[in-house]
Amino acid sequence: MDLINETRLWSTINDLAAITIEDQPWTRRSFTAKYNEGREWLMKQMRESGLEVEVDEGSNVIGRLIGTEPNLPSIVIGSHTDTVPNGGRFDGIAGVLAGLEIVRALKENNIPVKHTIEVVDFTAEEPSEYGLSTVGSRAWSGNLTEEMLSYTNSEGQSLGDAISYAGGKPNDIKNCEKDKGSIALYLELHIEQGPVLLRKNANLGVVTGIVGIQRYKISVDGLPNHSGTTPMDMRNDALTAASEMTLALESVANGKFDQPVVGTVGVFNNFPNASNVVPGRVEFIVEIRSISEEAIDAVADEFLSKVYVIASKRDVKVETENVSRSGAIVISDKIKQLLIESCSSITDKVIQLPSGAGHDANQMSLLAPVGMVFIPCKDGRSHCPEEWAEKEDLYLGAKALLNAVLAFSKQEQ
Ligand code: GLV
Ligand code: MN
Ligand code: MN
Repeated sequence: MDLINETRLWSTINDLAAITIEDQPWTRRSFTAKYNEGREWLMKQMRESGLEVEVDEGSNVIGRLIGTEPNLPSIVIGSHTDTVPNGGRFDGIAGVLAGLEIVRALKENNIPVKHTIEVVDFTAEEPSEYGLSTVGSRAWSGNLTEEMLSYTNSEGQSLGDAISYAGGKPNDIKNCEKDKGSIALYLELHIEQGPVLLRKNANLGVVTGIVGIQRYKISVDGLPNHSGTTPMDMRNDALTAASEMTLALESVANGKFDQPVVGTVGVFNNFPNASNVVPGRVEFIVEIRSISEEAIDAVADEFLSKVYVIASKRDVKVETENVSRSGAIVISDKIKQLLIESCSSITDKVIQLPSGAGHDANQMSLLAPVGMVFIPCKDGRSHCPEEWAEKEDLYLGAKALLNAVLAFSKQEQ
């Protein structure tokens, strides 16, 4: 029986994707009015589907289908509805709306499931304007500290205030922390965000592990001065120093490690950013990712030591701040097997692959067994307006997750 409604899934994805900043598609940054609008739309869909809806202290949106044995730990299907600036139409919302489609299918076909199923839109999975990502799933895992709640955006507002704006209660954030064992299984459907499924001509990918992510904020203070009158050998230029640090990251991450590592500077702010002023200050964010924790640490150590050498050579001050770390995870054999079977019952084009992108699953792995299924994205592109997934692949992905929920709930006591 075909439980997943392919057309409905596709139209909900298009409807939510269309809630975007109009002159900057497809953008729904966390903690903005557009983000709240998208979540209002989502909650309406959840209510109309007969789910219990809650916004918790971490401003996570939860839609609950109560199981026939409500005392069992729940099955959570989640992802996020925020986007990167100029982001895509599928990153995040595919997972949330596949979850919604799964509970709709179960409900309208009167298929009883023992476990309560929670469809969750986790708050701010992408790096927010406050420097932190996976905010909502951190609140669940207990990794959202007081210090993080006091991180500020460029206007000086705190992350705590932003969570209130999104409907959460930052002062009571501990109330939404989950006990280990309170969640039986966490599942997430996502576009791959890379080229591997396409290259291998696969429809579905079972994720074997997810990279860890280390982020630092580096602030370089030089001496702002007149660009015309300050001789080249009398400058303390923060921008040239920060540029050399950025190149050092590239060269360190290019080294040989037990597993591949990537290092990126994606945020780079120059002050005062005027054509006739020798730059006085630069702030930039460094991100290091690998499936190997040891490799992340090795790159971080070598990079930070180079930063201090460069700062001293160029006579600028440098401060390094550890913004966040999310641990790399390995998916258990049991959950991989569950997903391989549920995917293979639908298509024979299934592969296994690691994820170079971070996900709410990283935080959820601290609480529960987690599993992820990937679908292909066009040209392997993501985090850009061209990001695209096919209707048929979304359908297959949702179907695979539904099969996994049914098989898991049947086998678990
Ligand atoms: C999320 O998209 C991430 O990998 O940063
Ligand atoms: Mn993303
Ligand atoms: Mn995502």
